[in-house]
Amino acid sequence: MKYKNFSRDFLRCDFEEGWSKWPTDSNKGVPMPMPQKACALGDKLIDLVAPIDFKFDIKLQDAIKNRCSRREFTQGFLTLKELSFLLWSTQGIIDGDITAHRTVPSANSRHPFETYLVIRRVKDLKPGVYRYLPIEHKLCIVYDDKEQAEKISTSCFEINSSQMQNAAVVFIWAAVPYRTEWRAGPYAYKFIAIDAGHICQNLYLAAEAIQAGVCAVAAYEQQAVDNLINVSGKDEFAVYLATVGKIA
Ligand SMILES: Cc1cc2nc3c(=O)[nH]c(=O)nc-3n(C[C@H](O)[C@H](O)[C@H](O)COP(=O)(O)O)c2cc1C
Repeated sequence: MKYKNFSRDFLRCDFEEGWSKWPTDSNKGVPMPMPQKACALGDKLIDLVAPIDFKFDIKLQDAIKNRCSRREFTQGFLTLKELSFLLWSTQGIIDGDITAHRTVPSANSRHPFETYLVIRRVKDLKPGVYRYLPIEHKLCIVYDDKEQAEKISTSCFEINSSQMQNAAVVFIWAAVPYRTEWRAGPYAYKFIAIDAGHICQNLYLAAEAIQAGVCAVAAYEQQAVDNLINVSGKDEFAVYLATVGKIA
């Protein structure tokens, strides 16, 4: 059976001539792209709680053992501190800035993802669509608009509509492929997909420390989600989502 545009070769790693010979922009001396999309001038930034103040203690073994996909959430709110912890756990910077060491690994340290949040129930934040800025550890507003944010409920496959409607927050990871293409050329797509898995697993584990549940979601409507987060669908597009909410 053949699937248009899909290939098993995507998963292979046949570096026949050696990676250093690939005509990638990195090998041609093109400057490294920034690992974070800039904000528009004058964008209002929202401070998050600094990692030094988190103090969310849980035994790592318990977090790993108890993790599972949870699709039913209470109507409870996350605090800004809890949301800050989830964001830092998934894309946060530990030290450095442009080629920074983060809480998750990334092939060639390219960190190709932007994190968007559809926020419904987080204390001190208006419902809307936001974007995380790992370098500043702040949020910027994409839409400060509840109606716009509610479009998430109909932006995924039917099987996911109930969890989308009930989540306190929906994480949307959008890839900026060029960040990885710059270094890895045709292997970029495999690396980007693997990177996404690391990010989401950290979300599952971190949520265990704040009595929240997570469910990874890959069954979504591409165009609808890209429109919701206001990205082109070409140089940047949604790849992976996760619902988050308080659990009983
Ligand atoms: C790449 C990926 C995509 C997934 N997409 C969905 C999805 O669209 N909807 C959903 O309800 N669960 C989704 N899941 C969750 C899986 O169904 C779940 O991980 C699996 O049933 C195993 O359950 P567990 O996570 O509780 O161990 C996805 C998981 C992964 C890793």
